[in-house]
Amino acid sequence: MSNSIPVSPVADLETPLKFAYWVPNVSGGLVVSTIEQRTSWDFDYNKKLARIAEDSGFEYALTQTRYAASYGADKQHEATSFSLALLGATERLKVISAVHPGMWHPGVLAKFIITADHISGGRSAVNIVSGWLKDEFVNFGLDWLEHDERYVRTEEFIGVLRGLWTEQSYSQSGKYYNITDFTLNPPPLDVPGRAHPEIFFGGNSTAAQAAAGRAADWYFSNGRSLEGFRDNISGVVRAAESGARTAPAKPRFGLNGFVIARDTEREATETLREIIAKAHRPAVEGFAAAVKEAGQSTSDGKGMWEDSTFEDMVQYNDGFRSRLIGTPEQIAERIVDFKKIGVNLLLTCYLHFQEEVSAFGRDVLPIVRELEADLARKNGTELNTGLLPTTDLEGAHTR
Ligand SMILES: Cc1cc2nc3c(=O)[nH]c(=O)nc-3n(C[C@H](O)[C@H](O)[C@H](O)COP(=O)(O)O)c2cc1C
Repeated sequence: MSNSIPVSPVADLETPLKFAYWVPNVSGGLVVSTIEQRTSWDFDYNKKLARIAEDSGFEYALTQTRYAASYGADKQHEATSFSLALLGATERLKVISAVHPGMWHPGVLAKFIITADHISGGRSAVNIVSGWLKDEFVNFGLDWLEHDERYVRTEEFIGVLRGLWTEQSYSQSGKYYNITDFTLNPPPLDVPGRAHPEIFFGGNSTAAQAAAGRAADWYFSNGRSLEGFRDNISGVVRAAESGARTAPAKPRFGLNGFVIARDTEREATETLREIIAKAHRPAVEGFAAAVKEAGQSTSDGKGMWEDSTFEDMVQYNDGFRSRLIGTPEQIAERIVDFKKIGVNLLLTCYLHFQEEVSAFGRDVLPIVRELEADLARKNGTELNTGLLPTTDLEGAHTR
């Protein structure tokens, strides 16, 4: 933990950091490289992974949504059905399904998630993503909106979800959705600590930050440096404090990071070097072209991946940029530095998911918890250990 990083006023030092992992529900692993990845996209692998994760101290899993082969991911499982199956296979893990406005009607999704919430005892959540893969929309015969306009639709979409989850006889009229006097019965489960199933939101651009600041419970970003993520947070906070926020509580912040934890820093950086050296160049370049097109019409050129290098894009959500690469101690320190600037949740990915999620729980998390407790004490408060998730490191591989 670096003493030179000041604690931001948005940092929540009492609440333990939360940890999530990307569900590998698409083929090819989370890096576009021919390096060995002992990760599979099939359900059996993922069921075991989810159980390992919840036993290792992870509170969330995020299932990505992808319909078409792209960027090394030739095969994909659909996100909401896969998430529901993972909820059925676990006891405590909350599973977040990524969904695209434009692919779903928000009322249909609201209903689906309520059912998933009842089946899982209140563990269902969504990540609203506005989309970058134009061909998925165009080739389905759906409208492809320009960049900033996608966020207009997204914000309305979130309004409908929240309205239908919290109100009876809900009505909303807008440019994209018109809901008249609608009640969904049953409502979502009444779970302490949340007003309804949690609404995450992924995006980096100025339009994304503003929409998330007004409407989302959680803002998720691609991998970023400390300075970079500070900028994102301030964009979201500015919008949240503008008086136009429709969500019941302050926004919370999640950051993506690709974890390479090894016994020595040298081994970890050597693994990163090998990932990049073995990158699948045509796939990375194809992805770069697609996302540039998707972000083209941002008013200020600050779309996601806008300043990403070839190396960054080998992990498709810029996960190397968060620099969770080194020994367990170094990674834990880096994570707590992110907490100081306002991060509440780390969304992680790995080369070998089952093995490394388990190792992360065993080797990195205990150090994070010690550092978090120190940080709280140094700032005159206490880490609320009552909020820590239950772990079962012994049981992690036996279920
Ligand atoms: C954490 C996170 C998860 C994402 N998951 C998906 C996904 O599952 N499917 C998808 O098409 N896009 C996903 N995206 C990308 C968004 O759809 C969208 O392209 C991105 O938010 C555009 O960013 P921009 O507004 O910065 O240009 C994700 C983004 C983030 C930050």
